[in-house]
Amino acid sequence: MAVDVKETMLTRVRYNRIAPVYDLIETLAERRYSDWRRRVWSLVTGPRVLEVGVGTGKNMPYYPPDIRVTGVDLSEKMLARARRRAERLGLDVTLIQMDAQALDFPDDAFDGAVATFVFCSVPDPVLGLREMARVVKPGGRVVLLEHVRSEHPVLGRIMDLLDPLVARLIGPHINRRTVDNVRRAGFIVERVEDMGARGIFKLITARVGDSEAGEEPVASKEEVA
Ligand SMILES: C[S@@+](CC[C@H](N)C(=O)[O-])C[C@H]1O[C@@H](n2cnc3c(N)ncnc32)[C@H](O)[C@@H]1O
Repeated sequence: MAVDVKETMLTRVRYNRIAPVYDLIETLAERRYSDWRRRVWSLVTGPRVLEVGVGTGKNMPYYPPDIRVTGVDLSEKMLARARRRAERLGLDVTLIQMDAQALDFPDDAFDGAVATFVFCSVPDPVLGLREMARVVKPGGRVVLLEHVRSEHPVLGRIMDLLDPLVARLIGPHINRRTVDNVRRAGFIVERVEDMGARGIFKLITARVGDSEAGEEPVASKEEVA
């Protein structure tokens, strides 16, 4: 699986463009998201945690004190805002510009990982999720908060029709089947919680298989090695 360089560059350009107004656009939605973010971070297992698509750092207020977070993002302008937020909050977070589809970390570098509203935007979500599985140690937990394609036949179809326009204007794809993608990437899905909006928002808890516990290991670790 190769990175689609053009699509990845376009994603970066779109988020660079939207970075100055991203927090403003999200103000209303954030009232709802804040409880979800708190829940996401209550499920995280550390101490070494990777946050993929850290954006402007909206999860930072919810980081538990006993973990060490490394945040990566494709967009340098989103990251610049994340850096300012970390400073304001007095947090010691490592922030690096990096593509989720080609993480520059060794296998098993992290105890756990998180992404919120990210795999709607990563050009090849399965590739990105496989990379996440590769860098998280066997048995490590990954927590995702994502909006996904509705399973309602009419709403799902409407999302398919609107998707190209929304992706072009703002960045995210609104018709991703992220729970399926998490399985396709080789994770063991532990739990999928419906967070509302007719099943569009999902909190997904997944685990990297541990061969010592008799589980299927993640194939991408062997492919890369
Ligand atoms: C909708 S924003 C979510 C930001 C943040 N996680 C939040 O909850 O507010 C999606 C983020 O994913 C980042 N992103 C998209 N594709 C990426 C990729 N291939 N690698 C790393 N980050 C990516 C974007 O730059 C953007 O900051």
